[in-house]
Amino acid sequence: MQVPHARGPLSAWVRDVLVGVDPGHAPDVPEDALTGNEDAQLALWMTYELHYRGFDDVSPDAEWDLGILALRRQLERRFEEQLRAVTASAEVPLDTDVGEVLLDLAQSADGPSIALRLQRDATVDQMRDYLSQRSIVQLKESDPHSFVLGRLDGAAKVALAELQYDEYGGGRPGRLHAALYAQALRAAGLDPQYGAYIEQASAVTLASVNVMSMFAFNRRLRGASMGHLAIFEATSSLPCRRISRGLERLGFPEDVRAYFDEHVEADAVHEHVVAHDICGCMVAAEPDLRDDVLFGALVCLHMDDLVACDFLQRWDSDLQVAS
Ligand SMILES: [Fe+2]
Ligand SMILES: [Fe+2]
Repeated sequence: MQVPHARGPLSAWVRDVLVGVDPGHAPDVPEDALTGNEDAQLALWMTYELHYRGFDDVSPDAEWDLGILALRRQLERRFEEQLRAVTASAEVPLDTDVGEVLLDLAQSADGPSIALRLQRDATVDQMRDYLSQRSIVQLKESDPHSFVLGRLDGAAKVALAELQYDEYGGGRPGRLHAALYAQALRAAGLDPQYGAYIEQASAVTLASVNVMSMFAFNRRLRGASMGHLAIFEATSSLPCRRISRGLERLGFPEDVRAYFDEHVEADAVHEHVVAHDICGCMVAAEPDLRDDVLFGALVCLHMDDLVACDFLQRWDSDLQVAS
């Protein structure tokens, strides 16, 4: 993957470091909300990507460039502060069993449903927009959580390993969930290459994957990472069924639907594994992590709403322009 083009001073600074141009002083991180700031989110995404697949013609040493790490810390601090502020007043069901609380939270999600729109009346272009934007997340599906595995122990570690085995294809490379997503992109006539749509990725799309990386790369936030994962899995099965039906309605080939069909069954099981076997066991072993598990869960619900609004606003403003 090539280093993406800059979208403002922060991403320009990171890009300059990566391509070997003298970047000068790092710009200040803005005070305003980072979630919708595409420059800040792209800069953060580039710093994280160095830990995943990296970029063509960029030295692997850039992963530990002190200037990049310093800017990332500032971006992360601001991003985390803002996520904590926005989720602070959320109501959390009262239950001593954290697994039940997580499943109740997922059940209570009442934001706009992008899946319902895709099922019922999205156009072919809107479905393709959805598939390409989500490729930023799904082509590295489960990779953030693999970084957390070494930070857990006992029953929670065993349960996460079991989940990852499933997500990584259960021993069959062709069934890797990220590979199923690449197959879906190819069958839809889109580019299946990792990072192919990074130049088109919206601020919210980038934020939705950055939050997973931030939780995974900071050991302190391991509870938030697993709480986020619990909601991610528990809000997947029904939407995947709806998206599959939307793909069928629009005449997309079977190979596009396979990824979503796989998740209808798999995530109905995974939600219980993550809520009870990972988060429940984690909190039983380390009770202090309970608040962060719930923080991660609330962040996932918040990001899901933002992602849905991001698509709906874009599509509905296209409609207004067209009419
Ligand atoms: Fe999956
Ligand atoms: Fe899953």
